[in-house]
Amino acid sequence: KRVLVLNGPNLNLLGTREPETYGAETLKDVEALCHAAAAELGLSLDFRQSNHEGELVTWIQDARTTADGLLINPAAYSHTSVAIQDALRAVSLPVAEVHLTNIHQREAFRHHSYVSSVAFGVICGFGTLGYRLALMALADKLK
Ligand code: DQA
Repeated sequence: KRVLVLNGPNLNLLGTREPETYGAETLKDVEALCHAAAAELGLSLDFRQSNHEGELVTWIQDARTTADGLLINPAAYSHTSVAIQDALRAVSLPVAEVHLTNIHQREAFRHHSYVSSVAFGVICGFGTLGYRLALMALADKLK
């Protein structure tokens, strides 16, 4: 089964961006751990990041024909994007939502995610381990 992993804005700066909040690992490290987990789980993986809402929407739409499931860390768009929610609903693929940080422990504006209502599960606060856990959940869902 094919999983598309999408990362939203500013996640390209992981490792240097507010390391006290987001940790020292880079997005390359996250990509490597996802590929390792996917290999163990028998999933094929396409790992991407964009700073542009419309590009993420287009990639989600394209997933209709290119993926069986989606893992998304929508980053700040979690809290703002009706367009991403609509796109995820339109593709009707299983969606796992991941946040590195515990968004419920942070500013009030991070407590709500537009993506959560269209995800079958949400993982937050476990750092990069959350990506591995979400891939495990997707592999289970897709078997
Ligand atoms: C994040 C949490 C969001 O609130 C924030 O805007 C991010 C990253 C996380 O992974 O913890 O950019 O999605």
